[in-house]
Amino acid sequence: MSVKQPIAADEFQYVSTLVRERSAIVLEVGKEYLVESRLTALARTLEYDSLSSLIRELRTKKCPQLVNHVIEAMTTNETLFFRDRHPFEALQEDIIPDLIKKRADSKKLTFWCAASSSGQEPYSVCIMLREHFPQLLNWDIQFICSDISELMLKRTREGIYSQLEINRGMPARLMVKYFLKEGATWQAKPELREMITTRQLNLAGQWATIPPCDIVFIRNVLIYFDTTVKREILGKIRRILKPGGTMLLGGSETTIHIDDEYERVRAAGSWVYRVAS
Ligand SMILES: C[S@@+](CC[C@H](N)C(=O)[O-])C[C@H]1O[C@@H](n2cnc3c(N)ncnc32)[C@H](O)[C@@H]1O
Repeated sequence: MSVKQPIAADEFQYVSTLVRERSAIVLEVGKEYLVESRLTALARTLEYDSLSSLIRELRTKKCPQLVNHVIEAMTTNETLFFRDRHPFEALQEDIIPDLIKKRADSKKLTFWCAASSSGQEPYSVCIMLREHFPQLLNWDIQFICSDISELMLKRTREGIYSQLEINRGMPARLMVKYFLKEGATWQAKPELREMITTRQLNLAGQWATIPPCDIVFIRNVLIYFDTTVKREILGKIRRILKPGGTMLLGGSETTIHIDDEYERVRAAGSWVYRVAS
């Protein structure tokens, strides 16, 4: 690809409408730079001769594969191990011990990580469970990881991380205990990878395959949606949370003024959300 061009107003309009229809991600005016840089990189990878020719083909052919590439390119997959620390303390000190008591009869727990990106979040939870709750080893634990991005789900299944990614949050002691060095990268051990299952799911679409859950992690994804979509998602989560279940949001996310049916509870320095009984 030759010279980097700025995105035209009608091209930006077309892409932002498409992305919103397919993923609910809002790209307001002012985000031209983001679309321009992400799609210029995509055009280069797919060997288009310019950003405009990629968008022209998108508009004329609407090829599903190209649409998927564009949606994937416009997702922000930023994540790290044990992100924000407090939610993991809340799980360890409060949420999991409480669930162990409540589900002592069935010995069954269902977790759903609803925007799992490349897997650092679900693997952090799995490590925390292994480290602090060995009694759960003989429980029936289902841990569903979903994301709109197939690419991110593939990464989650593989569980392979660069040293840089490992350095973002994974303590050295846990790295050597739960990961195997594969050349320049680290792969989560099978015992960890076997704890999770992945499925592609658009949070703004149908959730036919999600069972009733004890814990829903939906962290750092609602920020990309408008209030109507956030409200719909939070309402659907309320309906799939089992009695006594908990939802965890990202540090800058809340249910306040969006869905006031949730009870906001303080747990180990973190706000977590329960359905008021
Ligand atoms: C910033 S990452 C958050 C990762 C992780 N939850 C965390 O807190 O570190 C946001 C993730 O949401 C996913 N995502 C964006 N829109 C989505 C949608 N409509 N449905 C499902 N996942 C979506 C992206 O692909 C991305 O992996």
